[in-house]
Amino acid sequence: MTATIEWIDDKVVLLDQRFLPREERYVAFADYRDIIASIRNLAIRGAPAIAIAAAMGIALAVLNVPAQTMVELRESFASVCRDFASARPTAVNLFWAIERMKRRFDRTSGDSLDELRQALKDEALTILAEDIAANREIGRAGSALISDGEGILTHCNAGALATGGYGTALGVIRAAWEAGKRVTVYVDETRPVLQGARLTAWELHNEGIPAVLITDGMAASLMKRGLIRSVIVGADRIAANGDTANKIGTYGLALLARDHGIPFYVAAPRSSIDMAISRGEDIPIEERDPSEVTHIQGIPIAPAGIAVMNPAFDVTPSGLIGALITEAGVLHRPTAPGIASLFECSCYKGESQHSA
Ligand code: MRU
Repeated sequence: MTATIEWIDDKVVLLDQRFLPREERYVAFADYRDIIASIRNLAIRGAPAIAIAAAMGIALAVLNVPAQTMVELRESFASVCRDFASARPTAVNLFWAIERMKRRFDRTSGDSLDELRQALKDEALTILAEDIAANREIGRAGSALISDGEGILTHCNAGALATGGYGTALGVIRAAWEAGKRVTVYVDETRPVLQGARLTAWELHNEGIPAVLITDGMAASLMKRGLIRSVIVGADRIAANGDTANKIGTYGLALLARDHGIPFYVAAPRSSIDMAISRGEDIPIEERDPSEVTHIQGIPIAPAGIAVMNPAFDVTPSGLIGALITEAGVLHRPTAPGIASLFECSCYKGESQHSA
């Protein structure tokens, strides 16, 4: 499986996803500002991958800043954290990772500057390792929901590329496949940026997991024909009541699934849950550049000057979600008390309250 993001020789190396599937182009960054740009321009994307990129970017910035005193280092650190927080608004994992780096900074600020720099690098690498482990757990828990021979619809890319590795929604599918279940994955192309066609199809095809690429408008008809037996997607932010923001188009799929009596599952780590937001209406939704809608890979497909809307995410109400699959297990019919119970385990290291 291809590494999404790595720390190599004090550089952050990432696979530039804008060029997939045409080209596997890796870029190595020593300047944290290049990592912020990569989050904004979708060279790296997907909620958990954004979090890892931010954590590594913050560690990289602290490593290279020419501060001589703890006061100077703290000022630079605070400013870098603010810069990362402005990169994208919806995926709460970004803010979760920044808060974790801040807590590590505070815990280590009595040590030498070099020890602090090392501690922040360690924290970023721990976030990466924990994300991969969480995805394996999500896969293990979620694969029990998949039957042999099942047709599964997924939207956007919630795979290895969107995480530290293995994936959330695709992690469930991978685990089911590895357990010997014969699945067929229907992959929504996912306009406007085509994460399904370019990334999810690429991941599944590379691994030989049976996949059928479809356009976003085909889901209802395939459900009616009985080809799709479940829908699994990832999440960018889950409110305390279970309402879930994910790639635009997800909400429509949840409605279609309900109408066809098909279970709709969300697979995400607990770092995607924002206990500070009580309901989906309060989740900030990113509005992206109109050119993503009017152009495909730089080629215009609409008249110049046409009015455009381009919200990158929508919110699926928790009542449409059959189960939330996290590394803590499967939560059927998620509601506020059930979501809160996911953080009761004393082994949970992250904070459940995030800022936006
Ligand atoms: O705009 P993107 O590509 O960052 O959107 C990604 C998604 O919507 C994913 O489904 C979500 O982040 C979950 S990734 C495990």
